[in-house]
Formats: sequence, structure tokens, C-alpha cells
Amino acid sequence: MSLHDDVEEILLDSETVANRVSELAAELTADYAGRDPVLVSVLKGALVFLADLMRAMDLPSSIDLMEVSSYGGTATESSGLVRIMKDLSASIADEDVLIVEDIIDTGLTLNYLLRYLWERNPASIRICCLLDKPARRLAEIPIDYIGFTIPDRFVIGYGLDYDERYRNLPYIGVLKPSVYGGAPPEG
Ligand code: PRP
Repeated sequence: MSLHDDVEEILLDSETVANRVSELAAELTADYAGRDPVLVSVLKGALVFLADLMRAMDLPSSIDLMEVSSYGGTATESSGLVRIMKDLSASIADEDVLIVEDIIDTGLTLNYLLRYLWERNPASIRICCLLDKPARRLAEIPIDYIGFTIPDRFVIGYGLDYDERYRNLPYIGVLKPSVYGGAPPEG
């Protein structure tokens, strides 16, 4: 039994993802030339993308990690309220912040986070996300760098999970319905 047996379809294979990550990194390296951005990621889904992206960027950048949790399970959808479980480790005042996210879905997490980060007086904030799923957007988010725009399907792999599993799949795929039983999960 392999983890791959649970995958119905590969949406983006690992080579496609790697090529796009290299392109994004080259774009960021050019755009941030002469600057020293702080890459801010939200645990846990963005970890794999962050790890690959930062190694392909030829810049003197630093990283900081946050962890957020929605009030009441999946309530980001209904309330948009987000609780900070782990805050930034250092000040971002006067820094160029690049938010690195794995996926933007409803946009509610980033909508909150953007306001939260702007209150800390950074010089700039830009957003780089690997996957954009515009079909479910509830809050408008200004995304500066997008890896792929994807259809409204529940995706796993390359950091993204279902019930904390499948994050270590090297590609982005869709699970077999038999894995979750019934209707596909939201998100
Ligand atoms: C994912 C993703 C974003 C958020 C986007 O995290 O990493 O932070 O959801 O969704 P939204 O646009 O609808 O707000 P998730 O809550 O699945 O946690 P994880 O990163 O630990 O898997």
C-alpha cells in the first residue's frame, strides 16, 4: 500500500511545479535586487513551497514563520476570524515583507493577515502564492506572484494536507473519493 494509491489524479506533476517555482524565484530575485526581504510563511502548508522557493532565490533574504488558527474548526469560512497561534519572531518594521503561501482559497486568512502585518509598519508587503483558487474567493486579495491558477477541487500534496496527511507527496493531486467518503472536503 502506497500513499500514491490514494490519489485519483495528478493535477501538477513535480517537474511542472519545480519549473514554475524556479521561474517565480527568478522573478523575485530580479524584483527584489538590492533589497533584503523577509519571507513570511504561515504553517504548515506553505513549508514545502517556502523551502524550494527560498533555495532558488539568489537574495540575502530571511524567513519568519507564523501559525494561525481559525475560530471553531473550519470557521475561517464563516467568520473570517483568525487567531495567531505563533507570532513573528522579529520586528518587520521598515522591512520588505514577502508573504509566501501555498494556496489562497476564500482569501479570509490572508485578508486578516495583511491587516495584522500592515499594523507592524513594514516598508512593503507583497504576496507570492503557489496556488490560486479564485472560484471560492470571499475577500479580494492583491496577489503579486501566482504559481498556478487551479479549478475548484480539493488538492493535496507539496505541503497541502487532508487530515494532516499527504503533505509529503511530491506533486499536487486530487484524492480518490473513497479516502474521505461522501462529499469532498471544503477548501
Ligand atoms: C491553508 C493555506 C492558507 C489557507 C488559505 O491553510 O495554507 O493559510 O488555508 O485558505 P483561505 O484562503 O480560505 O483562508 P490550512 O488552514 O489548511 O492549514 P495548514 O497550512 O496547516 O494545512
